[in-house]
Amino acid sequence: MTQIQSSSSAEAILAAIETAAETKFLPIIGPEKGRLLAQEIRRANPHHVLEVGTLIGYSAILMGKEMQSDAEIVTIEIHRDEAEEAGRNVVRADVPPKITIITGNALDVIPTLQGQFDLAFIDAEKTEYYLYLKLAENKLHKGATVFADNAGIFAVQMSDYLQYVRRSGKYNSRYIPVGEDGVEISVKL
Ligand SMILES: C[S@@+](CC[C@H](N)C(=O)[O-])C[C@H]1O[C@@H](n2cnc3c(N)ncnc32)[C@H](O)[C@@H]1O
Repeated sequence: MTQIQSSSSAEAILAAIETAAETKFLPIIGPEKGRLLAQEIRRANPHHVLEVGTLIGYSAILMGKEMQSDAEIVTIEIHRDEAEEAGRNVVRADVPPKITIITGNALDVIPTLQGQFDLAFIDAEKTEYYLYLKLAENKLHKGATVFADNAGIFAVQMSDYLQYVRRSGKYNSRYIPVGEDGVEISVKL
């Protein structure tokens, strides 16, 4: 098994992004909910992660810190400038897994992805979470985890998604409140 070492440059980049987010609009998952995401990554030990909504790479680096060197994160970002900045941050962070950043609309990109994912982190346009999940669903195996950010503050915008993961019988789903917001963690049955 590959030994995981916490990268100090990754820590420094995460801290720098957190500091930047204090003074400008940078909707990162942040350290509190990020701890839950890191915990899920450690629990699931995924080899293949799908992220919808890269921004500048904060959450990809945060997840990557917990992953093995033979793993991969595929992350999708609709805006080219953000995707390019994420690319620079990811190179500097030097986390163990391969991180592939795809610039494009996740609604177009997800259907083109090959292979199965062990974990999906959804954090893009809130009204589209349900569509992202439906497009990715056949690429999520039984036992795969779907981690959705902002299930508290955007519960109304995400209501179709939340209703689906909680009531379709296809997921074992729980909401974890964090401050005024929260995350929805759903395991595929
Ligand atoms: C909340 S931010 C992501 C934050 C990031 N996950 C983090 O915690 O560091 C949402 C991102 O999703 C992107 N986005 C919105 N709609 C998208 C879509 N349809 N496809 C891909 N990216 C999208 C936005 O441009 C934005 O950068």
